[in-house]
Amino acid sequence: MADETQAPRGLPMAGVPQPSRAEVLSLPNVHISQHPVIAHMMGMLRDRTTPHPEFYKLVREMGTLLAYEATSDLLTVETTVTTPLETTTARKLAGGVGIVPILRAGLGLADGFRQVLPDAQVWHLGLRRDEHTLEPIEYYNQLARANNLQVCFSVDPMLATGGSAIDALNILKRYRVPHLRYVGLIGAPYGLKKLREAHPDVPIYLAALDERLDDRGYICPGLGDAGDRQFGTL
Ligand code: PRP
Ligand code: URA
Repeated sequence: MADETQAPRGLPMAGVPQPSRAEVLSLPNVHISQHPVIAHMMGMLRDRTTPHPEFYKLVREMGTLLAYEATSDLLTVETTVTTPLETTTARKLAGGVGIVPILRAGLGLADGFRQVLPDAQVWHLGLRRDEHTLEPIEYYNQLARANNLQVCFSVDPMLATGGSAIDALNILKRYRVPHLRYVGLIGAPYGLKKLREAHPDVPIYLAALDERLDDRGYICPGLGDAGDRQFGTL
């Protein structure tokens, strides 16, 4: 978290040392997508001229693609199904799935996840980052006790200082939500390292790992403000 004693108000990351990409690339249990379609779409998301309806659609599609990557090892059990021709064995997911969109920017990713996992339970958690301190502030919580979940995805596009992701997982752990995973679009090395240290048990899935945070705590090169760009509130 930014140390305000080191920085003038409004520039919370000024002078704060940050790790390089190379330093965090080998952190355990971190999955940075190598998929060419994800890389292609990331370029469109980064483009400042992409209008907000298109931007939201891209975030949703990225949610669907990342859901494939982040669910590839889920457990299944055998079941039987009767086709129009005969009865056969099939597989079904061994236990439910939870999705926690971190408001607001997580909504588009969660929408994409639901294309893959329409039966998933969706719990909303509202966290807003204070622009001066970069500290996350909780303002909405619709979490519930989880029953029979095999996995729960906390989805939020931007892992900047890591404060929001760490807080979200702290809150989910307080609710005893089991088998947590974090899914985002872009991580900064600083936030990725903090998140890895705070929650070493939580697998992290990202579409891209960027270079650094600027003095205001924005990811560079990044894509700007993911919430504003999805909802046209720039
Ligand atoms: C953004 C983003 C994350 C947070 C990341 O949300 O969606 O939740 O910032 O920053 P951090 O890693 O430094 O905590 P924001 O606070 O802008 O709210 P929004 O989703 O409503 O736009
Ligand atoms: N939140 C965003 O939306 N973008 C950033 O670059 C950092 C935090």
